[in-house]
Amino acid sequence: MATRVDLLDLPAVSPRALRSQKDRAEHLQELRDLAEATWLAKGDIGYTILKYDDVVAMLRDKRWHSAVGLIVELNPDVTPEFRARRRESILSAEGDTHVRLRRLVAPAFSPRNADALRPFMREVMNDLLNNVTESGTSDFALDICNPYPIPIICELLGAPRSDWELFSRWASDILRVFDSNLKNDIPLIMAAQDELDAYTRDLITARRKSPKDDLLSSLISAEEQGDKLSNDELVMMVEAVIIGGTDTTRNQLGLAVALLANHPDEWQRVATQPEHAQRLIEEVMRINGAVRATGRLASQDIEYKDILFPQGTLIFPSLATGNFDGDVFNNPEQLLTHRTESNAPQLTFGSGIHYCLGASLARAELQEALPLIAARMPHIKISGPVRYKVATAGIYGPDSLPVTFTPTPPLIL
Ligand code: HEM
Repeated sequence: MATRVDLLDLPAVSPRALRSQKDRAEHLQELRDLAEATWLAKGDIGYTILKYDDVVAMLRDKRWHSAVGLIVELNPDVTPEFRARRRESILSAEGDTHVRLRRLVAPAFSPRNADALRPFMREVMNDLLNNVTESGTSDFALDICNPYPIPIICELLGAPRSDWELFSRWASDILRVFDSNLKNDIPLIMAAQDELDAYTRDLITARRKSPKDDLLSSLISAEEQGDKLSNDELVMMVEAVIIGGTDTTRNQLGLAVALLANHPDEWQRVATQPEHAQRLIEEVMRINGAVRATGRLASQDIEYKDILFPQGTLIFPSLATGNFDGDVFNNPEQLLTHRTESNAPQLTFGSGIHYCLGASLARAELQEALPLIAARMPHIKISGPVRYKVATAGIYGPDSLPVTFTPTPPLIL
């Protein structure tokens, strides 16, 4: 007979209020220490899943539903008007709805389509580097990470260069939904959603008339047994790409550089052997991932390892502690690009049916960026305090990352 989870005597993770004051590195260390002793801990609104195998098992169990929608639902500052306009997105959809969406859109996010953008990614990165490499100093988060993903998302979608600024503003405003200032931000978020919505509908009309070689045209033509995405679903997918594909990538790049600045050998190697970036990025994402946890809600009573999680129980599978599980990765704190003890993938892209749809694109973006950065910012060093984002739902990374390096001349593009 399984024991109800709320009757167990479980170790506690620090309450959310305390966590936002704590340095997030300290909080992560607390979780990683806990994970050495247990796979399950209790928080103030749910349970944290700490070990690799349990994180994967629970993310793969379809009875656990995405809790993305709850981030907004649980926020007391959400107005009824804002709540009413919330559409189901691929991130929150479950069951047949999710299977259908995923089947229709997955081919457009293939590795081949991501690879086609690699030359463009290099062009964008070289352009950004040209602004700073002569000086030998930079706030890497502001100068390089922040602007990098937007042009790529625009190119992917088929939006022209003249609209990069617009997308950048919409993305920052829509992403405010994850910040702690929702009361003030709701009007801005709604305005950005409305503008993006209108823009996307115009772009859809244009692409229906004359398709191009871009994501939107692929999504419009995506069809399975006569089934197609509606205009509302196309708009939802564009918003999902902006939400899923901008802040994640820029923070992951910042985290990669923050870590590699302390690994000069790896820095030098990836500068001269760009093919090394593939393994290096996976290991960097394992150690220092931009998404540290996700949330799931029990859609029914669920028994797991003789524990009953009643319907409605909230869990937080911790990707960051799973990635550090000593039963899976020997000496998990060490950066080792040729691990032989395990074929287990790093968890920062998630697992199961919601596994990151943009993983190929994100990998390509990071793999193209890193060798160029390392070659054009040799002998990089962190030159001041790194300021990390305050606690927001989900995405983690540096807001400010001051670096110095040996100056290099601009590249003629
Ligand atoms: C390093 C960068 C990225 C990281 C770390 C990341 C991480 C993740 C994670 C952990 C999930 C699963 C969330 C869950 O299970 O609750 C996810 C889902 C998703 N990601 Fe990413 N992501 C990245 C880049 C991207 C990019 C570039 C795009 C789009 C172009 C994207 C689009 C999505 C979408 C649409 C989903 C939802 C998939 C579904 O629910 O079926 N992501 N991502």
